[in-house]
Amino acid sequence: MTVCYVKLKHCNMIRGIKIWNSKGFTLEPYITSLQLVSNYTSAKAASNVQQLPRLPVPKLEDTLHKFFKTAQPFLNDEEYSNTSNLLEDFASVGGIGHKLQNLLEDRATKHQNWLEEWWLNTAYLGYRDPVVVFSSPGLVFPFRKFNSQTEQLQYAAKTLLAAFDYKSLIDNNEIPVEMMGKSPLDMSQYKKIFGTCRIPQPNRDKLSYNDSKYVTVIHNNHLFHLDLWGNDGKRLSVDQIVQGLIKIVAASPSPAKDAVGILTSENRDTWAKAYQLLSKDAENRRSLLDVERSAAVLCLDAPCGLWRTKEEDQRSLAAAHTIHGAGSNANGANRWFDKTIQFIVGADGITGLTYEHSPAEGQPIAILTDYIINYIDKNTVSEESSSSPIEPVQLKFTVTSEVSRMIDEAKYNLDKLVGDLELNCFQFGQYGKNFIKSQKLSPDSYLQMAMQYAFYRLHKTPGAHYESAATRMYVGGRTETIRSCSVESIEFAKTMLQEKATAKEKLNALKKAVSAHKDYTVMALQGFGVDRHLLGLKLIAVENGFEVPKLYSDPAYTRSAHMRISTSQVACKCDGFMCYGPLVDNGYATCYNPRNDDVNFATAAFRAHPDTSCEAYRQALESSLRDMHDLLLQNTQSKL
Ligand code: COA
Repeated sequence: MTVCYVKLKHCNMIRGIKIWNSKGFTLEPYITSLQLVSNYTSAKAASNVQQLPRLPVPKLEDTLHKFFKTAQPFLNDEEYSNTSNLLEDFASVGGIGHKLQNLLEDRATKHQNWLEEWWLNTAYLGYRDPVVVFSSPGLVFPFRKFNSQTEQLQYAAKTLLAAFDYKSLIDNNEIPVEMMGKSPLDMSQYKKIFGTCRIPQPNRDKLSYNDSKYVTVIHNNHLFHLDLWGNDGKRLSVDQIVQGLIKIVAASPSPAKDAVGILTSENRDTWAKAYQLLSKDAENRRSLLDVERSAAVLCLDAPCGLWRTKEEDQRSLAAAHTIHGAGSNANGANRWFDKTIQFIVGADGITGLTYEHSPAEGQPIAILTDYIINYIDKNTVSEESSSSPIEPVQLKFTVTSEVSRMIDEAKYNLDKLVGDLELNCFQFGQYGKNFIKSQKLSPDSYLQMAMQYAFYRLHKTPGAHYESAATRMYVGGRTETIRSCSVESIEFAKTMLQEKATAKEKLNALKKAVSAHKDYTVMALQGFGVDRHLLGLKLIAVENGFEVPKLYSDPAYTRSAHMRISTSQVACKCDGFMCYGPLVDNGYATCYNPRNDDVNFATAAFRAHPDTSCEAYRQALESSLRDMHDLLLQNTQSKL
């Protein structure tokens, strides 16, 4: 059987969904139920209060033309010619491409965003691998040094107050509308950050949206309900929240025997089964509902030896704790991975968050991060306090022997995943956006080309490369793929590696590659990329009972969509960074935060794959950035 994998995922990429077999293109039962069921889950579609335009359906010929160009680096002459014929056939008048295009255009007249519902369901809620590593990013805040547990709890209390301040700005529509040039961006993702929880279900999860004034606190793998408003309707002060946290810590002196939170790190169908078993008990049901309805989770983590760790490894350690909690014996069970936001405040100074990706992209979360860091660093003091704070309540679970076994398996599976994920997170301190801008180049495109160059110098082969571009200028817009690997990027990498190439040739190749990337970016931001349109054509084929066209099993498609470099710019002003796992077994993840004078990088690879090494990739990336800098500087100086 030939199995085709649509491999996208982080920041709206779908990973590993089986679609058809080679004989009759028979649909898997799973995908059938996933995509043919048209009733929505509890997902909130964006309302168009901002009067934003609708996501366009690009012209078929335009997409095919762009697609063919991006596939070129992955094809030999014979394959190139075969693909050319295949595309001609696909696009012929009366051919399957046109039929699908008409159906898609029809869908676009009936939905305010033709992709939104499909995307949520295929990229996230129907995706069955664990959210840990495979979907949920971590976000590391600048390190703190806590000299006592009280300092840790004070920091945690301030984080919660800052977050609730921010939540009230969101609730009152006071977050300034972000702009892309003159276009306002869809702000609906902000409304989905707090109070949202993913609920495991067989085949496809649901999202639950709630508005509440309490949080779930997890300490030593025990869960608690902590109200942030007292009985008098007044918000608690920092000291009052700290008092609540002290009680929680005292009530959970040792790790919970049955750490139910670790089940949320499981394969989604496995967790759905455990959830159903847990739900048979009335008290368990109340506890699950309590977590589901809380505004966010606060994880008070055990120490992890941060200050005994070599400085160069500290960022990677912090990334591990925010992505997966570093395993069942560390903080991996001190989590509820279904919750959209989990703040992490570790005993020895690792702070940050883990976020469940389905309701929102990284950028709103990064803006929330800056707000929190600012709030804490400016020592913002809320005058409010309550005369009648409410005692925290422990959320109890009764665990049957069957669920207990599932918890043991979840621990084993998480530890395996943790062992396989290699992380290398670092700050490139030589220069940042300012230098790149001074060279009249787009910082983002330049950094993307540095990654292309790094991959090529390491593997001597083109690396299909995913970058997310926000399509939030449209109602309900999320992302489009920027295909960063191009004819120009490969030419650039080759020229840089050629001993005989002159500085002028290298410079020209660099500028061409940056410019080609920028052009693609502009198209992607406007919804005129390749990947979402091709996905739409495939899904409309599935919905209407057509065979999935051969285009999707052609090497041009499978290779150019096997994203060996999966990247995202997530910009925050503070010295923080987002991090996540690679998209494919033999790939790298690279999330980056370009700041004025440095760039924070978080790279990841799977240890199990012999072809990849995060350490080697980091070195290649740093060397590439230095080479490019020297080349540009040499050019500037020669002009002087
Ligand atoms: N010369 C000088 N300056 C330039 C330049 C040039 N040739 N080209 C761009 N610049 C400037 C820009 O004006 C901008 O200036 P500012 O800092 O004053 O705003 C700055 O450099 C950065 O621009 P650039 O690097 O080109 O792109 P960008 O920051 O707009 O980022 C994307 C591009 C695609 C990353 C961004 O539009 C986007 O979509 N971000 C969201 C990605 C996402 O979804 N992430 C989360 C996934 S979970």
